[in-house]
Amino acid sequence: MEGRRQRLIDDVRSAIAVKLTRQDILDTAIHLIDDFSPNFDWSGFYMMDGNQLVVASYIGPETPHTVIPLNSGICGAAASQKRSVVVDDVQSDPRFLACSISTRSEIVVPLMDGDRVLGEIDIDSNTPSFFTDDDRVMLEAVAAIVVTRLKEIGV
Ligand code: SME
Repeated sequence: MEGRRQRLIDDVRSAIAVKLTRQDILDTAIHLIDDFSPNFDWSGFYMMDGNQLVVASYIGPETPHTVIPLNSGICGAAASQKRSVVVDDVQSDPRFLACSISTRSEIVVPLMDGDRVLGEIDIDSNTPSFFTDDDRVMLEAVAAIVVTRLKEIGV
């Protein structure tokens, strides 16, 4: 992995290691994630609550989509398919739920505990086709670290 991507993974691991609540872990991680790129224009965690996704921590414009059912949006698709989803052109994807009219591309990475989805990382960019495979791999590593820490504190 490229140096700055590995650095984000390491920074998230060490920063959340000392956090003791779910909210503190998610807030700390999302700040580091959002700082990774000026083209991450909305960065957030949605967490599963029953069979819906509920926004738990985010940086960016206020979103109208604070609760997302699993059959809705790119967020719902990633959680129900249990895999990362990258959309290069959100405006041509009928699943897309707009948080901001300026969004052009999006990545959603589930937080997996074995076969169970705990939540997901969702990032929007105002730049078309912004998210690369390297970003996906990096965010999947970050997601795994966040899951490990959430389980350590018993969430
Ligand atoms: N775009 C997402 C909804 C969440 S907002 O972008 C913050 C979706 O299509 O599920």
